[in-house]
Amino acid sequence: MLPAAPILLFDSGVGGLSILRALKKAAPHAPIVYAADFAGLPYGSKTEAEIAARVPALLGRLVERYRPRLVTIACNTASTIALPAVRAALDIPVVGTVPAVKPAALQTRSGVIGLIGTEATIRQTYVDNLLREHGRGATLIRIAAPELVEAAERKLRGQANDTAVFAGVIGRLLAAPDAEGMDIVVLACTHFPLLTAELAAAAPPGLRFIDGADGIARRILHLCETDFADAPPADGLFVSTGSGLDASRYAEALLPYGLTRFETL
Ligand code: DGL
Repeated sequence: MLPAAPILLFDSGVGGLSILRALKKAAPHAPIVYAADFAGLPYGSKTEAEIAARVPALLGRLVERYRPRLVTIACNTASTIALPAVRAALDIPVVGTVPAVKPAALQTRSGVIGLIGTEATIRQTYVDNLLREHGRGATLIRIAAPELVEAAERKLRGQANDTAVFAGVIGRLLAAPDAEGMDIVVLACTHFPLLTAELAAAAPPGLRFIDGADGIARRILHLCETDFADAPPADGLFVSTGSGLDASRYAEALLPYGLTRFETL
């Protein structure tokens, strides 16, 4: 493995930056290639078959081109559907991103947990299994919030969002049957932790939000067997699949993540 071999993070758009944020905090010098499948965004409205066909093929091309030491699927939708297929197709470690149901179940006092994800993620049996195995008997209220994916993309392009978007999502969640007493909400899409402040402002006091980014960053560094402390600082690369979306519109927001170079796949 070349010392400069990067960690590749992959998402449909800029949601994976919530994972990169945690990773950069733990390992500021980690060499990064961040790939956004803008041509496929959003994943949440796609079928299982579309995602299962698209993600392993795309990751195969990315690995061939950038020779990473490890791949992180920084997307709950792609991970809950395509993780086994990606692992089977690649001969390097693959880290997935799955909803933080387990830590939420450990932290809830009321036993009522909310979960906001994409349409595709919330219907996965993967989530049923997480609840059965790690839910400690909690009630899980799941809602889809595709508008938050668009809101996060807009925010990172420097465009304003109407606060009614966040109020609408929180309102839907709290109005769901059996939501009474909910005290913690799993952000089960990597785009959503980019909007935690906006969601918290729309939520009643006492409702907390949780995601798995710190744990995923720890897992990545454990598998890399280094925290890159001795590595020279490297400029991160932002790769996007060709679409109408111009990656340069994100340039300012990507700067704090160390992503300063751009390529199209
Ligand atoms: N960021 C992604 C996730 O974690 C997908 C959003 C989308 O493309 O719909 O689910």
